[in-house]
Amino acid sequence: MVEKIELTSNSELSEMPFPLNSESIDDIIHQNDIDLNLISIRELQSLVNKLADKFSVDFLRFEFGIPGLKSNPIGPSEEIKMLTENEMLPSTYPPFDGIPRLKNATVEFARQFLDIHVSPNNCIPTVGAMHGCFISLAISGRRKEVSDTILFIDPGFPVNKLQTQFLGLQNMSIDLWDYRGKSLGDKLEELFSTGKIGGLLWSSPNNPTWTCLTETELEMIGKLLTKHDVIGIEDSAYLGMDFRYDYSKPGQSPFQPTIAKFTENYFIIISSSKIFSYAGQRISVTISSESLMTRKYPYLKKYFNSKTILSAFIHGGIYPTTAGVPQTTQHALAAFFESACTGEFDFLDSLKVYKVRAKKAKEIFLKNGFTLAYPDDRGKPLGDGFYFTIQRGDLTSGELLYYLLQFGLAGIPLDITGSKKKGVRICISLVHQNQYPELDNRVKALNKFLTNLNK
Ligand SMILES: Cc1ncc(COP(=O)(O)O)c(C=O)c1O
Repeated sequence: MVEKIELTSNSELSEMPFPLNSESIDDIIHQNDIDLNLISIRELQSLVNKLADKFSVDFLRFEFGIPGLKSNPIGPSEEIKMLTENEMLPSTYPPFDGIPRLKNATVEFARQFLDIHVSPNNCIPTVGAMHGCFISLAISGRRKEVSDTILFIDPGFPVNKLQTQFLGLQNMSIDLWDYRGKSLGDKLEELFSTGKIGGLLWSSPNNPTWTCLTETELEMIGKLLTKHDVIGIEDSAYLGMDFRYDYSKPGQSPFQPTIAKFTENYFIIISSSKIFSYAGQRISVTISSESLMTRKYPYLKKYFNSKTILSAFIHGGIYPTTAGVPQTTQHALAAFFESACTGEFDFLDSLKVYKVRAKKAKEIFLKNGFTLAYPDDRGKPLGDGFYFTIQRGDLTSGELLYYLLQFGLAGIPLDITGSKKKGVRICISLVHQNQYPELDNRVKALNKFLTNLNK
């Protein structure tokens, strides 16, 4: 059942404790040496906790990009069943490349929801998408000595850049707002031609703008990946969640667009965290093509002890990082995939509540003088989903965040996502129906406050 959100509260704005006292906020910010333009998600979480304590205010927390729903019992019951029925399971190391059941279920899920055919050998579980991205980035940036740069289609998930930093790879970024359609192709051609780019990473739907690459763009990207031997890393953390299209019917068009239709140079990462609200169990799969996985690059050997991509991924990537993924969570993900494929579990239906929340929250900000930092999707209206971006006049991201905090609201500054725009990312997953009247009141009061300041 998709929740309906109504705004019924008439509470008086004058009763609100907002704006929170700026001197006290400044004290906390200075004591903790915080730059609001560049604050990380975890630092912001801690700042908001401190402000909430100091002012005894419940913040409306739009800063976390985490699931706001309970997982379907399919996963937990499968894990319990596996543990109960197999007493040796906890004492048995998992295979590094994954249990056959999950590898086969991934093949079927990819066939039914992405309309692609892959081999179970090339479907490898990892400890969440972060782990899958980590190894994919490492391989992409270490096949050839000169191609040690990862190009990000930004804005994006900040942690991926920490990963390239950790791995000692170079990174570059282009902003989706500047390059869509043909201009995206032209820019990629220009950058790929230098030979420096080993991998290209994006998420679609995109965190934080919720824009989605079109099939035409993916086709263009795919051809360029093949031409220049760059690996496309398609982070499908939000697979199927572009609710403008109905991707929920297994085996039926439309299918979630994917790079795999247009090149063999890809890693696709499918995470259980958002689509199955299973973030705590840290399980995802990375999928690739037979052509890429069997390819040899002598330079890989230096880092992975193997020249072949598949073996580098498993024995040089999974083994030294986690030595496999817990088997119970692999069974859980397999069970989710299996029940989604039979149509018994409509996983996208349960996620539509995010669309309803985003639509309403967006309306509240827009009617109160805010605009969307990324206002459309290549000329088409944006979909409503997990995230959207807001801006206000010419306020910097840090200034806008400061005012939001003064009114008991929190979101992350776009600067940390690699965006060239100023604004704040709003994630609607944790703000529930019964908090929307309060959101309406606070945003209304903030608008009045900013208008008085001519902002
Ligand atoms: C684009 C993107 N990729 C990956 C992740 C994390 O996925 P996982 O929990 O599987 O590591 C997130 C979480 O916010 C995300 O937004």
